[in-house]
Amino acid sequence: MGYFRDNVERAEGYMPGFQPKATDVIKLNTNENPYEPSPWVFKTMDGIRPEQLRRYPDPLGNAFREMAALINGVQPENIMCCNGGDDLLSIAIRAICDERRPLAYPVPTYSLYPVLAQLQNCPAIEIPFDETFGLPGPLATTGAALTILCNPNAPTGSFIRVEEIAALAGKLTGVLLVDEAYVDFAEENCVALVKEFGNVIVLRSLSKGYSLAGLRFGYAIADPGLIEGLLKVKDSYNVDAVAIALAAAALEDQDCFRGHVEKIKRDRTVLTQQLRALGFAVPESHANFVLAQVKSGSAGRIHEELARQNIFVRYWNVPGLSDKLRISIGTEDQNELLIAALKGILSEGGDKS
Ligand SMILES: Cc1ncc(COP(=O)(O)O)c(C=O)c1O
Repeated sequence: MGYFRDNVERAEGYMPGFQPKATDVIKLNTNENPYEPSPWVFKTMDGIRPEQLRRYPDPLGNAFREMAALINGVQPENIMCCNGGDDLLSIAIRAICDERRPLAYPVPTYSLYPVLAQLQNCPAIEIPFDETFGLPGPLATTGAALTILCNPNAPTGSFIRVEEIAALAGKLTGVLLVDEAYVDFAEENCVALVKEFGNVIVLRSLSKGYSLAGLRFGYAIADPGLIEGLLKVKDSYNVDAVAIALAAAALEDQDCFRGHVEKIKRDRTVLTQQLRALGFAVPESHANFVLAQVKSGSAGRIHEELARQNIFVRYWNVPGLSDKLRISIGTEDQNELLIAALKGILSEGGDKS
């Protein structure tokens, strides 16, 4: 007998994207923001006092809750702070799912969901997207205790309209968690559904739009009834005092945030066109990455060749994704260097050798 529960013994665990030690690389593999966080974050960091570290933090992170409520047009009671969006996924699955209370989600999607289901030992009902990545009808009738819809979806970048998600929320008997980790780069979001539906949790992350992946900060927006249940499950001090202060500062600087997001969206359009011109099939993305399908040759070989040139993109050798590369939108220079490298690889047959 092993030391761990059977499902933990069997689990392979989540495989995060490669984090190279070197800094002089082009890192387009984990959807970080290529721009620095707001200067207001660093000013706030300079103002951190020893007392803020000596004492335990506010368990609810109220300074952040108030700021997030203001930005989203809701009340602080609608907000729960999390140690990254991943913390919320883990809390929600632990709070809602068990052996008899399944989790459901469309696939392909964020590969953490099945890992968390396995650790919680709950059934995972996977409903395939069709080739247009529209909302799969059967998702409404799984009977799952928790349904997760990643919107914009990763790794496809596709987007489902809010009115369709509202209709789904109305049909489900369980909770609907809309994973909006990438919504800063889309045209609309689901926050209004929280007021309309008592079963909707919206997940937000500061890792993408706010350039704070290293800080580990995300949050839930939901009806206070749902927030109360989630709070029972979270660690008492799941976000630290420095993170609460810096995350609130980042939200306060909406000008900086919007400037970076708009730039990334413009560069996403350019990169999509350039990749298409090189022969990749690239669906329209609503996130800070694109999914490029290799029409001939091997995506795996291109991934290796790029890595040899210190350009890192994401590749999964799994059915449905093995002919595709997920590429985060970098700075203009980084995107240009990527395109130049791809031209070189394709012209030398490096995608086939
Ligand atoms: C779809 C999706 N959801 C949630 C997260 C969690 O982000 P974080 O924990 O960095 O806030 C990620 C991170 O890449 C993601 O891709």
